[in-house]
Amino acid sequence: MKLSVFCGVSVDGFLARPDHTFDFLDTPGQGPHGFDEFWSSVDAVLIGRRTFNAARSFAGPWAYGKKPVFVLTHRQPDFSSLRGAVVEAIAGEPRAVADQLEERGFQHIYVDGGQTIQQFLAAGLIDRMIVTRVPVLIGEGISLFGPIPRDIALRHIATQTFQGGLVQSEYAIGGKPSKPARKTVATRKRQTARSTREN
Ligand SMILES: NC(=O)c1ccc[n+]([C@@H]2O[C@H](COP(=O)([O-])OP(=O)(O)OC[C@H]3O[C@@H](n4cnc5c(N)ncnc54)[C@H](OP(=O)(O)O)[C@@H]3O)[C@@H](O)[C@H]2O)c1
Repeated sequence: MKLSVFCGVSVDGFLARPDHTFDFLDTPGQGPHGFDEFWSSVDAVLIGRRTFNAARSFAGPWAYGKKPVFVLTHRQPDFSSLRGAVVEAIAGEPRAVADQLEERGFQHIYVDGGQTIQQFLAAGLIDRMIVTRVPVLIGEGISLFGPIPRDIALRHIATQTFQGGLVQSEYAIGGKPSKPARKTVATRKRQTARSTREN
């Protein structure tokens, strides 16, 4: 089973404002940027309870259609008002949750929500990450990334730009980092420090 992340962030790395709104993701002139293709490749969604609350508050039809949605929560939410939605609560350590979903036959899970993504990344369970940076700085909010117990190597697959200044990078996780084509940042820093000392 594969677990993937597909999300949008401000250039300073936020998924949402502190009050959980994300109006800043809709910058003018945006075109499609691959979400529909990604969506059709997943057979279930795993979201944190706060992402679920945000999705539930949207006006209009249930955002996830008929796709099975697993809501990570230690509570017992009432899903009865979500008519037609396929929603279930789930809890536990990331590995145990992933094992449960795999046992149920799912093959590709869309993992979403800040804390949720961070936990699954830290547990080494995310296979692929597609992050679209929207050209805005918002200064504070809910971060996509957070503390991790050790470095996580990413293998760069592709970076594309889309209308409206969106920059989308796709990474596979756990592979060897791609070799830098030019001087590394560390090399440049050492050279700058040396030339500063010499001046
Ligand atoms: N920009 C984007 O593409 C994007 C994508 C997704 C989300 N968002 C935004 O990000 C915000 C949500 O992110 P977030 O970091 O605040 O929270 P989150 O990951 O959506 O939800 C966190 C909650 O999930 C539950 N949880 C997490 N791990 C668990 C586990 N292992 N077992 C059981 N329950 C677990 C806990 O809920 P309980 O307290 O109920 O136990 C926890 O408080 C929302 O504003 C959302 O709209 C933006």
